[in-house]
Amino acid sequence: MKTFYIVLLGGLLMATTSFAENIKLPNPTLHGGKPLMDVIRERQSGRAFDTRVPDDQVLSDILFAAYGLSHDGKHTIPTSMNRQNLNVYVVLSKGVFLYRPADHDLVQVSRSDVRSLFANQEYMKTVPVILVYTGSDSENSPLHAGSSYQNVGLYAASAGLNNVVRMPREKEKIAQALDLPAEEFVIVSQAVGYPPRD
Ligand SMILES: Cc1cc2nc3c(=O)[nH]c(=O)nc-3n(C[C@H](O)[C@H](O)[C@H](O)COP(=O)(O)O)c2cc1C
Repeated sequence: MKTFYIVLLGGLLMATTSFAENIKLPNPTLHGGKPLMDVIRERQSGRAFDTRVPDDQVLSDILFAAYGLSHDGKHTIPTSMNRQNLNVYVVLSKGVFLYRPADHDLVQVSRSDVRSLFANQEYMKTVPVILVYTGSDSENSPLHAGSSYQNVGLYAASAGLNNVVRMPREKEKIAQALDLPAEEFVIVSQAVGYPPRD
């Protein structure tokens, strides 16, 4: 009987492991990039994207800019009363992931390609990376999202990426696709990728 339970437990563990394909991100690039005043001047929305997927290092840097932990357990953005009420989800063709700043990794929450939920504008159908900012504090979480998307916009200007902040229409459907807890809501999204090759 004991062997039966051990085999059952092993099977369950294997099933869980094979479902979730978490991504351990490499350490972010903590130095360099273009001078600050250059990227402030160069930041702009870009709405055309190459299908090339940014590699894990670029993804790491995007997420560190958005919401990484940079000092004393605090983030690259300020948060109201340090309550840190923000989450960043990453939508890729291979599924949906939740960014965990403390581990600097991505935990898979879905294997579905849900980019079509964001695709009321043509370029969103093929954009390789969509960040989705969520939170549960109606007053402050949207402000936190604004700080994050600005950081990502500045990083994009530094790294030669295009990005555009987008207010998705299908917020309820997206909340379902992200498997958000009841108290959490979708704030805004941000498409990121390389500009098209000439
Ligand atoms: C909260 C917010 C929502 C936005 N929603 C959209 C959108 O749904 N579609 C879009 O193409 N651009 C969207 N934008 C981008 C703005 O149109 C863009 O920032 C503005 O035109 C200024 O251009 P710039 O970012 O190049 O300076 C959004 C920007 C913000 C801050």
